[in-house]
Amino acid sequence: MLMAAMSDTGRPSSLRRRWVALGLRVASLALRPSLQTDDLVSAGYNHIADGYDDAWTDHMRHLSVEMLDRLSPSAQAECLDLTCGTGFVTAELSRRTGRRALGVDRSAGMLDVARCKHGASCDFVQADVLEFLRSRPSASADVVTCGWGLGYSRPWAVVGQIARVLRRGGRVGIIDNTLFSLAGVLWCSLATFAERPEALQHVMKVRFLPSSLPLATILRLRGLAVDRRWDGAKTYHVADGRAAIARLTATGAAAGFESAVAPESRQAIFDRFAEILETRRRTERGILITHRYLAVVGHRR
Ligand SMILES: C[S@@+](CC[C@H](N)C(=O)[O-])C[C@H]1O[C@@H](n2cnc3c(N)ncnc32)[C@H](O)[C@@H]1O
Repeated sequence: MLMAAMSDTGRPSSLRRRWVALGLRVASLALRPSLQTDDLVSAGYNHIADGYDDAWTDHMRHLSVEMLDRLSPSAQAECLDLTCGTGFVTAELSRRTGRRALGVDRSAGMLDVARCKHGASCDFVQADVLEFLRSRPSASADVVTCGWGLGYSRPWAVVGQIARVLRRGGRVGIIDNTLFSLAGVLWCSLATFAERPEALQHVMKVRFLPSSLPLATILRLRGLAVDRRWDGAKTYHVADGRAAIARLTATGAAAGFESAVAPESRQAIFDRFAEILETRRRTERGILITHRYLAVVGHRR
């Protein structure tokens, strides 16, 4: 986009003005309480629920499985799976423990898929994870997991509640995208909006953490012991900019981007976003997409 804007105007100062205008727009939108990120996230996941497992679970399940292997839930453990989505982790917990596991998610669409696929072995509840945890008795669960959803809620508060609801010796396993997941793609989206700051109508207020270290620190400060923490990245290529946007939308990763754009500008912004991805992210094998993730496994002392 730097190149594109400079060729538009030929003046770096005009380019600087656009980035300053975008910064001011982001700041003013971030202070505005009107549109609720939670509702936009749920609406985004409702919309993509039917294709979510093809787009995300089938490509990332080995990472969730690695977390579950390290968590190693014991037979008959009573398990809660937070932000369960379509229920892959919930069903794995149930299979490994030989007992029905309980999945919690805010999106009705994701839960419909979960019940359809895993209703025979798991129970599912529609709720905000933090409100749900607060409603649970202390020391009432043996295992709590949270797969790829902690950053949508409030990590400090959620981990505090997990520590409260776990029984002594109970285990916790969390895997999530980091703040820097999709950083290259995010930068391209900012470059798109820097060309037309007025098209940005909402800023998603999410709290993804930079790495496993701050999450492990939160666990310790909340009185939990950390057994393992690790970080990693999953990289893949797609054919072109449009395919990248389609793929990111289907996984839920671009749900915020859709709602960030004023409807009348949506097509133009998405077209330009695809062009910028082509310019900046193209490699010999196609458009490079990198999901960076963090994970922690621990227990209540
Ligand atoms: C990336 S999906 C992860 C789904 C599943 N755990 C998995 O491993 O594939 C994130 C999920 O978090 C859910 N979610 C986001 N914020 C939530 C909240 N505050 N309370 C409950 N669920 C939430 C979304 O509805 C979505 O299903």
